[in-house]
Amino acid sequence: MNYLEQRFSVQFNYKVFFTSDLFAESNKLLENFLAERKESGTEAKILFVLDEGLVTANPSIPQKIRNYFSNADSFQLVSDLIIVPGGEAAKNNNIYFNQILEAVHNHGIDRHSYLIAVGGGAVLDLAGYAAAVAHRGIKHIRVPGTVLSQNDSGVGVKNGINYFGKKNFLGSFVPPVAVFNDEQLLLSLDTRNWRSGISEAIKVALIKDADFFYWIEDNVAALKDRNLNVMNQLVKRCAELHLEHISGGDPFELGSSRPLDFGHWSAHKLEQLSQFTVLHGEAVAMGIALDTLYSAISGRLDGDKAQRIIQLIRDLGFEITHPLMQVKESGSPLLQGLEEFREHLGGRLTIMLLSDIGKGVEVNEMDPGLLEQAGEQLHAISGAGYSRKVTA
Ligand SMILES: NC(=O)c1ccc[n+]([C@@H]2O[C@H](COP(=O)([O-])OP(=O)(O)OC[C@H]3O[C@@H](n4cnc5c(N)ncnc54)[C@H](O)[C@@H]3O)[C@@H](O)[C@H]2O)c1
Ligand SMILES: [Zn+2]
Repeated sequence: MNYLEQRFSVQFNYKVFFTSDLFAESNKLLENFLAERKESGTEAKILFVLDEGLVTANPSIPQKIRNYFSNADSFQLVSDLIIVPGGEAAKNNNIYFNQILEAVHNHGIDRHSYLIAVGGGAVLDLAGYAAAVAHRGIKHIRVPGTVLSQNDSGVGVKNGINYFGKKNFLGSFVPPVAVFNDEQLLLSLDTRNWRSGISEAIKVALIKDADFFYWIEDNVAALKDRNLNVMNQLVKRCAELHLEHISGGDPFELGSSRPLDFGHWSAHKLEQLSQFTVLHGEAVAMGIALDTLYSAISGRLDGDKAQRIIQLIRDLGFEITHPLMQVKESGSPLLQGLEEFREHLGGRLTIMLLSDIGKGVEVNEMDPGLLEQAGEQLHAISGAGYSRKVTA
């Protein structure tokens, strides 16, 4: 045997802070965080990337950020705050990726500097990816602005942009140095984006925590009423379940199993087929409904439980299916989505289904005929009102 062996492990550690009005001058959380990490002899520069939709809804944010850093002499704020469009546009067109890299280049942002992104999941994915590749990695702080990014995408280790028309085709696994969840940002969300991220909480509850699922059921009215306190509880538990899963399993997704992608194979395809007019969380709600019904029809999940899950999704005001989610023939775009999901996993197709509320079960194939049936039943249920029975 003639070889050398290299082996090491790298410990990652970051906190997800929960706060209110992060950039208020009286809020010292971020300032203290940065001060504690200040290395002597270096002057950390801070480059901000802001989500245009978030800024439009909170026009005072750029000035608040400038004021916040105006007295912090150990940091140098790059006064030119980068603003990129919010939503999938940020990830679809690489001009925004290039724009961030150019700013890193022009302002001399180095590996002791910070790139702080404030925005929805799409802007965070974009900025996180740019931070991961520039200089092989600039410290990255996330300030998620939506329910979905506070409870799921912003607290994890993945980032990326779309390429060749495929979701997250380019990306990396790089943890942030910290996440600051600011509840005030949720107040300016429109109804769709307030609701959209709740589907990720249902997702993680269904595969990991039945009690959390029942808690969501009990809190439907408060969530629809935009009760911030209840939403904070949902965000925190959901973020906690995601963090636990990431650290306890396969953080950099070396295997083919993706429990947290329950309901996502069809959701990713629907987002793309609908040209991103269906939001990620809305597509996930439909994907959960499809895989829940499929679980029941294929004999894995009790029909009444499937009905209960679908009812919760509807009660929250989500649609449970979409014309583009119907499987009609073997070349159906949705079935191509299954193949693309397998490609993305890079190995054997592995799909999470349910055997109970709070309990997932993995399968390695999906039957197109049963998928067609599940789609048709969901279509019928969505037209027929709440009381329609799931036929499993
Ligand atoms: N990296 C991951 O692990 C991961 C996980 C799940 C989802 N994602 C990605 O996250 C993206 C979806 O993220 P999202 O649901 O946060 O939506 P989003 O980023 O698409 O934002 C939705 C809209 O809300 C606006 N917005 C953001 N914050 C706002 C605020 N505080 N007030 C008013 N408007 C605001 C944005 O401008 C945008 O128009 C998708 O690209 C998805 O693929 C990534
Ligand atoms: Zn998701």
